[in-house]
Amino acid sequence: MHFVLEQYAAFSKCLFVLSIRILLLVPAGFLVRSQGDYQSNNKVMDNITVRQGEAVFLRCEQGNAVTRTAWLNRSSILYAGEDKWSVDPRVSLVTLNQEEFTIKIDNVDMTDEGQYVCAVQTSSRPRTTSVHILVQVPPKIINLSGDIVVNEGSNVTLMCQASGKPEPSISWKFLSTSVDLVSDDEFLEIPSISRQRAGTYECTAVNNIDTDLQTLDIIVNYAPAVTEGRDVGVAPGQYGVLECEADAVPEADFEWYKNDRRIFTGLDDLNIINTGSLSQLTFFNVSEGDYGNYTCVAINKIGNSNTTFFLYGEDGNTGVRLRRSFHCGS
Ligand SMILES: *[C@@H]1O[C@H](CO)[C@@H](O)[C@H](O)[C@H]1NC(C)=O
Ligand SMILES: *[C@@H]1O[C@H](CO)[C@@H](O)[C@H](O)[C@H]1NC(C)=O
Ligand SMILES: *[C@@H]1O[C@H](CO)[C@@H](O)[C@H](O)[C@H]1NC(C)=O
Ligand SMILES: *[C@@H]1O[C@H](CO)[C@@H](O)[C@H](O)[C@H]1NC(C)=O
Ligand SMILES: *[C@@H]1O[C@H](CO)[C@@H](O)[C@H](O)[C@H]1NC(C)=O
Ligand SMILES: *[C@@H]1O[C@H](CO)[C@@H](O)[C@H](O)[C@H]1NC(C)=O
Ligand SMILES: *[C@@H]1O[C@H](CO)[C@@H](O)[C@H](O)[C@H]1NC(C)=O
Repeated sequence: MHFVLEQYAAFSKCLFVLSIRILLLVPAGFLVRSQGDYQSNNKVMDNITVRQGEAVFLRCEQGNAVTRTAWLNRSSILYAGEDKWSVDPRVSLVTLNQEEFTIKIDNVDMTDEGQYVCAVQTSSRPRTTSVHILVQVPPKIINLSGDIVVNEGSNVTLMCQASGKPEPSISWKFLSTSVDLVSDDEFLEIPSISRQRAGTYECTAVNNIDTDLQTLDIIVNYAPAVTEGRDVGVAPGQYGVLECEADAVPEADFEWYKNDRRIFTGLDDLNIINTGSLSQLTFFNVSEGDYGNYTCVAINKIGNSNTTFFLYGEDGNTGVRLRRSFHCGS
């Protein structure tokens, strides 16, 4: 046993030297000439591309005159003949006979990337077969800005970082409208954001293995803008409605005033109903005393705006207006 180990030690030293030689020969223009010079001795196989997590088989040809054979990862022996030198449980022997010497690496990871050498000693001289394992990793978005709420006019920067091999390329798309807002960068800058830029953004990470994508939402807050109040003519005794609509994010709260006096719902014969962006001031039975100016004020935390309606008496048949006025502020 001791004797065998000593032999292997000597053998591995020899392999070490060989493998270093191979490693030095691979880069640059040396390769072409060295293949000519050493064709029978040293063979460079095509690169093996394997996905992270998959298994890879390393096969090398043997022959009748082979006395010793080993597979190396860089300078360390994985298998010397049937003897496993590697402590890595993912490495196993598949076939060792006169034709081939094949080992398998399970669950390949990034660190397994590199040069593997099969060193064979024949009665005449040593020869090697080297192969380069390239590990590919599908893209995965690992760092994405979260959903955000900003005020209109803010400068917004979105970030999307992804892992993968080859390094994935990142792109941004604005999904909410047909407006083309595209960036080919980890960072998407939106200077002085407008309400039209609110919505869903998609980050895509692509390499030649796969694609990963994720989305995020931007909410853009802005002050209410009320649509101009339309004057309304209602004959006494009739039902009348003043409608006030406000575009706002977050949604506006509404206040109604008659001249300068705040009106509350349930008072007298009127009612205020708010549904989303719309507020309705309803008169169940309009009387002479109801005619006058009504102001609707829409308020959110960014600001407010108002519009004034004139409720006037109307001749039921002709629709003649008795008085008219209009005021709109912002
Ligand atoms: C094999 O991979 C190595 C390392 O990435 C590279 O330098 C070499 O050009 C590749 N060879 C071939 C034939 O693709
Ligand atoms: C190959 O060598 C590298 C560097 O020492 C190591 O990280 C990796 O786990 C090895 N892989 C195998 C399959 O032995
Ligand atoms: C995500 O990005 C932030 C800001 O650049 C950084 O502080 C953080 O470490 C990153 N997280 C990961 C998992 O890369
Ligand atoms: C947005 O960026 C511009 C240019 O860098 C700067 O002048 C401006 O003050 C920034 N606005 C805000 C709200 O930070
Ligand atoms: C509306 O008010 C007038 C005057 O107060 C009253 O005479 C009339 O009956 C009311 N109409 C309705 C439908 O309630
Ligand atoms: C309504 O408002 C207009 C303009 O602000 C003003 O001229 C008018 O006198 C007001 N009418 C009443 C009844 O207050
Ligand atoms: C309505 O808007 C005008 C113009 O912005 C402002 O001067 C006025 O105070 C507002 N009225 C109310 C009741 O908020």
